[in-house]
Amino acid sequence: MHSRRSFFKNSAALSLGAFGTSSLFNQIHAADFQKAQSYWKNDQTDNEAYWSVIQDAYSASKSDIIILNNGGVSPSPISVQVALEKYNIEAAQGPSYYMWRVQDTGREPLRARLANLAGCDFEEIAINRNATEALNTIIYGLPLQVGDEVIGTLQDYPNMIQAYKQRQLREGIVYKQISFEFPIEDDEQIVNAFRNAITPRTKLIHITHIVNWVGQILPAAKIAKMAHEKGIEVIVDGAHSFGLLDYKIPDLDCDYFGTSLHKFLSALVGSGMMWIKKEKISKIWPLICNSEPNGANIRKFESLGTRSFCIEQAIGEAINFHESIGSARKQERIHFLKKYWAEKALQIPRVKIHTSLNPTFSCAIAGVSIEGITPADLEQKLLKDYKIHTVAIVWENISCVRVTPHVYTKLEDLDKLVDALKAIAAG
Ligand SMILES: Cc1ncc(COP(=O)(O)O)c(C=O)c1O
Repeated sequence: MHSRRSFFKNSAALSLGAFGTSSLFNQIHAADFQKAQSYWKNDQTDNEAYWSVIQDAYSASKSDIIILNNGGVSPSPISVQVALEKYNIEAAQGPSYYMWRVQDTGREPLRARLANLAGCDFEEIAINRNATEALNTIIYGLPLQVGDEVIGTLQDYPNMIQAYKQRQLREGIVYKQISFEFPIEDDEQIVNAFRNAITPRTKLIHITHIVNWVGQILPAAKIAKMAHEKGIEVIVDGAHSFGLLDYKIPDLDCDYFGTSLHKFLSALVGSGMMWIKKEKISKIWPLICNSEPNGANIRKFESLGTRSFCIEQAIGEAINFHESIGSARKQERIHFLKKYWAEKALQIPRVKIHTSLNPTFSCAIAGVSIEGITPADLEQKLLKDYKIHTVAIVWENISCVRVTPHVYTKLEDLDKLVDALKAIAAG
């Protein structure tokens, strides 16, 4: 790898360079990626030479522990880590100048690139710190009257459930949660469950695009179409889908969308994004003060106070990295990695997989359990005896260990997971 010092020499010149020819991605990874690209064949099983270049671009691939909880939060590639170091060094020379006056001018180019990635107008994108901030801003900011109903599910993310419950407690909205037994391989069953919960007072449907507990993909566009026919708005929690599934936000046909960028996009921890359909921006109250709370400028959601612009600017390098692989190829690979271990695990006596292996209904995540062993014990055994980091999930009707690979995950590490499951299941 190049010497880090050389990256800092031109730090001022590079401060807006994430999208230029001098981007850190170009300096650190581009030549290797180009070479790897020449090895690419359209048969997945034959492309390990290509993927080894991607693996090497992440320091996490050399961790002592096999990291298989990328659904919780993902590591960043080396170029993104170096970007943070570079921006921090630059800002430390005087944040009131370098951070507020120099790095801040990178926000609009970044907004444009995020909009390009999301397939929408850049006036619809606000940059913030995570999915919780994006979605809570919309949930709390949406004008709702006493008795107005919101439909969500018991399997949504707790930070969103709690926001609706607080509005119920404080303002008298009605929050209804339907429940699903995953896996489900029938979109209509899911759409109908939402449809059946609708009443004349329903104003909003909340959809978790990929259910974090077991990785079920919900048919967001189909639910949204049904809801819109009844004049109901739709908010999508895209925390697990953005940067993983190959889609553009308008494909979902929703009204509001929030995501973290520190999951599958591999930006730094503390990177998030909100999208609101242009004509709806003015009616959403900002969560944090703004001089024009009823204005139509999406930037009213970015009055977040003093925070790290370094983390924000490094999102640019994460986008470069992501785009160098391409959304479709990334989705296909990560699904392949999931299937690779889960199909083998299914052959082990006493092992159950809690997630569909059909790419329409899931991608990166699969839940696994072993009869007679609690999720907490299985997670502990995997970590202590095999140095494999996963996460135990016990939530509502779901009980399993969640396994989530990422593009940098090695097949040999998934083989170790399968061997560990075999040994544990054999007692
Ligand atoms: C479905 C879902 N929504 C929202 C979030 C919240 O993300 P963050 O903690 O980055 O705000 C998560 C986090 O895991 C999630 O899984």
